[in-house]
Amino acid sequence: MVKIKSPKAFTGNELRKNLKTKYFGRKDFFLPKVDSTNDTAKKMAREGIEEGTLIVSEIQEKGRGRTDREWISPIGGIWCSLVLRPDISPEQAPQITLVAGIAIANVIHRLYNLDARIKWPNDVLIGKRKFCGILTEMEARMDRVTFVVMGIGLNANVDIDGFPEEIKEGSTSLERELGRKVNRAELLSEILNELEKHYDVFVKNGFKEFASTWQDMSSTIGKKVRIVQKDGKIEGEAIKITGEGALMIKKEDGSIEMVIAGGCLHLE
Ligand code: BTN
Repeated sequence: MVKIKSPKAFTGNELRKNLKTKYFGRKDFFLPKVDSTNDTAKKMAREGIEEGTLIVSEIQEKGRGRTDREWISPIGGIWCSLVLRPDISPEQAPQITLVAGIAIANVIHRLYNLDARIKWPNDVLIGKRKFCGILTEMEARMDRVTFVVMGIGLNANVDIDGFPEEIKEGSTSLERELGRKVNRAELLSEILNELEKHYDVFVKNGFKEFASTWQDMSSTIGKKVRIVQKDGKIEGEAIKITGEGALMIKKEDGSIEMVIAGGCLHLE
């Protein structure tokens, strides 16, 4: 009989060895299989679970990306969601995605010496290929957020060759970039350590403190881009991110447009 070797599941105990946070990941649920960790986290958030609760799953059967696209989530990746309860307005919620991008790219530099860069608004790339996506979803009452669920999908030890053709080309994994497997528990604990530091500053002072760092770590700034929104598209050069997290686009005719949401295509 041929024995198929699957990656060892990672556990809360392994994660906690290296965790230096006050509340991120201090309560955790490590599950073998869910539809989507974001959906599980949202349900728990509605039932009142505390801030910082982490939900991790080995496999997602209905992993979701932006605009409800399928997020392929086989064994070997990091598929997780954090429950957050920031005292912010709903307009500020997308800025959490930008802050998370900085934290994740920082950790990838530090642990593996890879040049991870942020593609606006929610992708982390190595070169032109995406290895990580962030899906931030929120619920609000009146003008205050009641909770935010931050979902992180990171192709750690994932075989990209098994992905559908249309996704394969633009995707990578850490295993593929490094030629070896990474320790997922170590990586996730480092991400949580970094994320909590950044998140605390964000909740206190807003995104403006992060804008110039985001620009330095971005692969979008300086590029010709196409922003695709529900009601049309905008093309031009991405020249700056503002203190409110809006991307400033200079169009061919010299006019400026600010965008706060949408899909982004690098045209060069
Ligand atoms: C994107 O790039 O479009 C965002 C992808 C986010 C995927 C993660 S995996 C964990 C969490 N659960 C989900 O269903 N989606 C996010």
